Amino acid sequence: MNQTCAVILAAGEGKRMKARGSKVLCQVLFQPMIRWVCGNCAGADIGETCVVVGKDAQDVCRQLPPETATAVQEQRLGTGHAVRSAEAFLQKNREKDVLILLGDAPFLFSDVIRRAYDFHKAGDNAMTVVSAVVEDPTGYGRIIRDGAGVCAIVEDRDADDAQKAVREINSGACWYKASALLEALEALTPANAQGEYYLTDTLGILRDRGYRVDAFDAGDPRVVLGANSRRDLAALNAIAREMVFDRLYEEGVDIPVTDGVIIGPQVRVGAGTQILPGTILKGETVIGGDCVIGPGSVLEDARVGNGCVVRNTYITRSVLEDDVQIGPFSQVRPDCRICRGVRIGDFVEVKNSTIGEDTHAAHLTYIGDTDCGARVNFGCGVAVANYNGKQKFRSTIGDDCFIGCNTNLVSPVKIGNGAYTAAGSTVTVDVPEDAVCIARSREVIKEGLALRYRKVKK
Ligand code: UD1
Ligand code: CA
Repeated sequence: MNQTCAVILAAGEGKRMKARGSKVLCQVLFQPMIRWVCGNCAGADIGETCVVVGKDAQDVCRQLPPETATAVQEQRLGTGHAVRSAEAFLQKNREKDVLILLGDAPFLFSDVIRRAYDFHKAGDNAMTVVSAVVEDPTGYGRIIRDGAGVCAIVEDRDADDAQKAVREINSGACWYKASALLEALEALTPANAQGEYYLTDTLGILRDRGYRVDAFDAGDPRVVLGANSRRDLAALNAIAREMVFDRLYEEGVDIPVTDGVIIGPQVRVGAGTQILPGTILKGETVIGGDCVIGPGSVLEDARVGNGCVVRNTYITRSVLEDDVQIGPFSQVRPDCRICRGVRIGDFVEVKNSTIGEDTHAAHLTYIGDTDCGARVNFGCGVAVANYNGKQKFRSTIGDDCFIGCNTNLVSPVKIGNGAYTAAGSTVTVDVPEDAVCIARSREVIKEGLALRYRKVKK
């Protein structure tokens, strides 16, 4: 049975962020901070997890992995008070070690959690705080040491000049024996500059009672960073961005110039793929090898095969098979499957459609709610009229069709295999296999009429 559990503090209001909702929903690389923290916890194989949320925090609860317990902190009276709000959870787990994490510190990664736990167990500590030595400790709690080890954590606002000079800071992450934590929480008072119940005061309380307490230096100042302001958040984004690049470089991805490139933490990219400037990859996007993505492309929850080229294009929640070429200036909206070898050129929009192998739509075309076969050619300016103002309809295009320039396909219609539509046709009926549909009026030529027009004008 897993002898660990965790409490994540996420009832902060984000006043300093001027955030409309909860602070922990502020995003680092498009992912709410609370999701980073839950992921780090899961990665460290922690048992049950309880997240402390403010009241009316459904928005936070929606971001939590299933099976996460929650406790509500009615009033925001400090980190110690927040942990106390999870008392029932702690009582239930009182024989275990409990990890406390802050919802606004996204980089306290699984390996640091594990290493701190090993240190905590090896020292048989009642409390182990994760610390780091940082360049600028302003705003953080300072780790104060005396001859006998760590003796206190002093908050920035309560620190004297000598304490302010200390550069070893409290990350906010701590391991406790749950029973010792429960005992120390009882003894907390809000006698400090902010009138709050500081969780950090449990260190002095436990030490005074003869418990073993210690600090584990994470060794990397980046991992302890939290975000209290929009400026902090920007700094976290900058760091996270570089971390993702480093991972991708290791995996053989080519990012020759990183200007304007933002890649989310869950995104995966295959070796030999080149990412060009101004490209944003979000969500669960997965890209194969030997692709060229960008410049200026935005992919969200996209699955892209090998050998694809995506230039100046938006792709959302869609699948591209291998060797697809898209762009420049196209859009693939949700629920598309673009099969192997398809070419989609400039100013083409595809939505909720399947485009069969080796089909080409080179310019100025809209394909919505359509099942299109293989080797079809769309001329310039084709539009599928899938919407009558009230309802949407689907159309089907067979294999080897030729859809002439400026064809309107008024859905629902079915174009049989090998059929053609003449340029400028508005098609409202099904076209049988191998037929040609011509749906436009014949030209009328009036010899010399232009001369008369010109005379009239003069
Ligand atoms: C806290 C630590 C500080 C540490 C720093 C690291 C205390 C007293 N101070 O300071 O030593 O260096 O984090 O980033 O613990 N929260 C609640 N309920 C509350 C108050 C806070 O849930 O009543 C949550 C917030 O959502 C936030 C986290 O706890 O995620 C930390 O709170 P915050 O106010 O940001 O603490 P700091 O002042 O940064
Ligand atoms: Ca903070």
